[in-house]
Amino acid sequence: MDLKKARQDFPTLQADARQKQIIYFDNACQTLRPRVVIDAIQQYYLSEPACAGRSMHHMAAEVTRGVDQARTAVAKFLGAARKEEIVFTRNTTEGINLVAHALGLHSGDVVLVSDKEHNSNLIPWQTVARKSGATLRVVPSRADNSFDLEAFEQALEPGVRLVSLGYTSNLDGLTIPAAEVIHRAHRAGALVLLDAAQAAPHRKISVSGLDVDFLALSGHKLLGPSGTGVLYGKYKLLESLDTFMVGGETVATSTYETCQFLPPPEKFEAGLQDYAGIMGLGAAVKYLQGIGFDAIQKQEQLLNECITTGIQDLPGLHLIGPADPHLRGGVVSFYMDGIDAHRIALMLDQMAGIAVRSGQHCVHSWFNAHQLQGAVRASLYFYNTQAEAETFIDNLRKIRKVL
Ligand SMILES: Cc1ncc(COP(=O)(O)O)c(C=O)c1O
Repeated sequence: MDLKKARQDFPTLQADARQKQIIYFDNACQTLRPRVVIDAIQQYYLSEPACAGRSMHHMAAEVTRGVDQARTAVAKFLGAARKEEIVFTRNTTEGINLVAHALGLHSGDVVLVSDKEHNSNLIPWQTVARKSGATLRVVPSRADNSFDLEAFEQALEPGVRLVSLGYTSNLDGLTIPAAEVIHRAHRAGALVLLDAAQAAPHRKISVSGLDVDFLALSGHKLLGPSGTGVLYGKYKLLESLDTFMVGGETVATSTYETCQFLPPPEKFEAGLQDYAGIMGLGAAVKYLQGIGFDAIQKQEQLLNECITTGIQDLPGLHLIGPADPHLRGGVVSFYMDGIDAHRIALMLDQMAGIAVRSGQHCVHSWFNAHQLQGAVRASLYFYNTQAEAETFIDNLRKIRKVL
């Protein structure tokens, strides 16, 4: 990857586009957007801001074609067997909620999650378990926060209907051994949903190769527009799911009493969609494939190594997850004795325009269980540079010195 050239694709990174230069290390929240994604959104609003699928006129036909092309691009990106396995959503949260509510869980069913799930892969299951009488069980991680296959195997008892796990953690960047997890879950008769919000931007995923049943991701975490997402499901499973949101565009016909639902994905895509967002998402996955996941991981490793080495000796600093940066992808999460995480984040921003996340990162359950107030998270992406990493280190060292 030509880093200099890649950075030029991102208007936010151009010094002349902003008064203040930023160092954007909040990529796990949302990534920046390349020009091609912004162009795709703009193209929709400038040329054919119409509905897909409903009207007969040429503008509508163009939008229908654009949505279909985006669906095909995402199916290819994820290695899905067919494009009808791709359901467009607003985000990962919606995809997980869809499965949670449409799976038809009932008393006697068990859902397994880990002890460090994002709220979006915890609260939907808590809610549905409460309503349905199903049981939610939490599999503990090892002491270093890594996935415990033995504990998982023990939890895989009869009655486990679904295993729903974060593929890569937004807390510490650790990735679970997904292929092995899926193999063991299937052997025990359970389905698997992967929350790929933090995995899909950083690694090549083949849903067919993994044999995963459901997978949810967010477009805005992989260069796509805000409020876009995807739920992948094996076609037969999507057919067997109940509906979630219903209304216009989900049915072939209706009477006053009943209706006939369309096949997937339409039965899940209720109402007018974010066509500009969907086309932007199509452009994002194509752009990402052009960059390539080998190059993405190589750059993240370089930066994570640099930051980990540069800050690990700071007095009172505790890294979350294993010390080895190679196990934590693009994430460096830490807390410092005696300094509030929000204060560190604010100071980094004020001192050098460095954008990081602070707090409990929507993993309140983990922080509460560990009796920790919060952490600072630097989340890196391929367009970040070594110079930025060094600026981060210098400023964190200054903060430690003065506080
Ligand atoms: C691991 C993980 N799962 C789910 C989500 C929820 O994503 P969204 O807010 O885009 O639905 C996030 C967001 O940070 C995440 O990191």
